[in-house]
Amino acid sequence: MPNVISQRFESFLSFNRYRYLWVALALMVVAIGCYVFAPVKTEHNGGTWFGYTLGVISVGLMVWLAALGLRKRLIRPGKWSQKGRTSAHVYLGIALALIATLHTGFQFGWNVHTAAFGGMMIVIVSGFIGVAIYATVPSKLSENSGSQTFVELKSQLDQVNLQLDKVLFELDGPPLKLGERVLKTDGVLVSQLRALFSQVALPVFEQFRDSIQQARDAGAIERDLSLTVLRLTQSKAALVKRIRLHQRYKALISIWLAVHVPFTFFSMLLVGIHIFAVFYYW
Ligand code: HEM
Repeated sequence: MPNVISQRFESFLSFNRYRYLWVALALMVVAIGCYVFAPVKTEHNGGTWFGYTLGVISVGLMVWLAALGLRKRLIRPGKWSQKGRTSAHVYLGIALALIATLHTGFQFGWNVHTAAFGGMMIVIVSGFIGVAIYATVPSKLSENSGSQTFVELKSQLDQVNLQLDKVLFELDGPPLKLGERVLKTDGVLVSQLRALFSQVALPVFEQFRDSIQQARDAGAIERDLSLTVLRLTQSKAALVKRIRLHQRYKALISIWLAVHVPFTFFSMLLVGIHIFAVFYYW
């Protein structure tokens, strides 16, 4: 089965010969051109006819970008592609940074208007970190798990555990104790934070292997049994490592989303307050 994640994100930046990069560049060039040549009476700011126009475009773009989460869940195959959607999101998000800056007319201060602008810029800047993660992590995920999905890796681990459980019956003493710890070692770490920081190396597996080898050298375990145990331990160690790495990469994406998405709502709230204040004090 092809790795769905890696296919989904492969080259979203260059989607359809950079179609959305060109759209965003065109938008930005038109916006700058109008900014330079627009016949506004006084200096540029959000309150001129041109400022209002850019403000309306910025809010429209922001709502559209924020609707991504919803669209992502509603999208059906055959409709707008995931790659195209992400590509448009990234490039039009960058265009928004420029359009909203022109909307302000570079008039910044310690007020709710600048706070709304700052909130939006935090979302946009965090977007760049997201691009870096999305552009590298999916390929790392597929390098790590080959063509196997997380569910497949997990079911392989369950099978190895079953076999290991059977052969542990034939051990006793220290090898059995260590073997039980190996059996209990799970691929899935409890929390994503732990997955991010905890070690992927598995010292108990090494200790278990050493103890099996010693028991075999001492004649306490038959050669065939020791070979089976060592083979199963090796398979389990490889699977646990791959699953944990998988978890780690996924944790990175979740942590990033935990910044990008809440700041989206927060900045929209600030923009709402900004718009209310503009009309209230008109
Ligand atoms: C104010 C502007 C922006 C808003 C309101 C916004 C909002 C969002 C939302 C709501 C999601 C969906 C998260 C989810 O539920 O999965 C998202 C995903 C994402 N955003 Fe933004 N974003 C903005 C700007 C940007 C910019 C400028 C970039 C890149 C430079 C960016 C990069 C991304 C990426 C890579 C994703 C993941 C795409 C996916 O899951 O398909 N965002 N954004």
